Amino acid sequence: KDDVITLAIESSCDETSVSVLKNGRFVLSNIIASQIEQHQKFGGVVPEVASRKHIENINLVIEEALQEAKITFDDVTHVAATYGPGLVGALLVGLSAAKAIAFAREIPLNGVNHIEGHIYANFIEHKELEPPFICLIVSGGHTHLVYMKDYGAYEILGKTRDDAAGEAFDKVARALGLGYPGGPLIDKLAKAGNKEAIPFPKAYLEEGSYDFSFSGLKSAVLNYLNGQKMKGNPIPVEDVAASFQQAVIEVLVEKTIACTVEKGMKQVVLAGGVAANSGLRELLQQKTKEKGIDLKYPSLKLCTDNAAMIGCVGYYNYIGGHRSSLALNGIPNLKI
Ligand code: KG4
Ligand code: ZN
Repeated sequence: KDDVITLAIESSCDETSVSVLKNGRFVLSNIIASQIEQHQKFGGVVPEVASRKHIENINLVIEEALQEAKITFDDVTHVAATYGPGLVGALLVGLSAAKAIAFAREIPLNGVNHIEGHIYANFIEHKELEPPFICLIVSGGHTHLVYMKDYGAYEILGKTRDDAAGEAFDKVARALGLGYPGGPLIDKLAKAGNKEAIPFPKAYLEEGSYDFSFSGLKSAVLNYLNGQKMKGNPIPVEDVAASFQQAVIEVLVEKTIACTVEKGMKQVVLAGGVAANSGLRELLQQKTKEKGIDLKYPSLKLCTDNAAMIGCVGYYNYIGGHRSSLALNGIPNLKI
């Protein structure tokens, strides 16, 4: 009877997703309507197209999420929705739907930070997981090293100074003519390539810094590709993918291990779309094992954008006594 049934909505980028959760960590449904096909021909997400698609999809996806969870609006006790960061027009579709439900049903609303959502995907996957831990969040829009002390309590240890890791994957994939989104395509090609074939630069920045930079690496790959074309040489696509991926993941893994050791932590959590990368998972698994550190990451479906992770944050905000106003706005550059 006292169960909290959260209806959660995510629409910050190109996925319209709605989930129903019981007491935060138990997913009754998690429907994801992807718009990848609509954006593929443009080589990336077109904000205006994304907003329109969200509007077309949102009510259908809500219906489907309720049906799959075998509940009706009467059973929902709490609503959660992403309010940033993301594309403002896209955010407003999900947030407005959530507000309408909260208002009509007279139930509480919680706005959720999308980046926190990626971390909390791990709480759904691993029911026993509790903070504190070090979390590496790597997505299309964000690259953060975070010390999560408690639910809702974070210390940012480092972040990217330019491109996000996923953005670098997408841009390099585009230059290789692979299509969008590039991460999974590079991941696949890298398996057939030699990761030591091309010495791309690895940006470690100043001694002791946990910040990242991927724009120099991206430029180095573009320069290499141009050079090969000028010389009339063929492009060794698999080797470029493998060498580029290695340059990204070595820096990510080394900094993650260094700050975990410095903080005396024994637990590392991986989150975000790039957490789906098989090379990153393997290298981080190997290096954490060497140091006796426990590593956790979500299953592939929970790595990329989904509403279940948003509902999990909403639940912890809810039991922590937090409530959002119906005047809550979408915040495109919301920080964690
Ligand atoms: O978390 P996410 O779905 O959206 C954001 O919040 O940004 O992440 C999407 C990003 C894209 O850049 C995509 O190329 C990347 O995650 N990605 C991958 C892989 N799967 C998705 N990058 C590398 N390897 C993968 N297997
Ligand atoms: Zn995301």
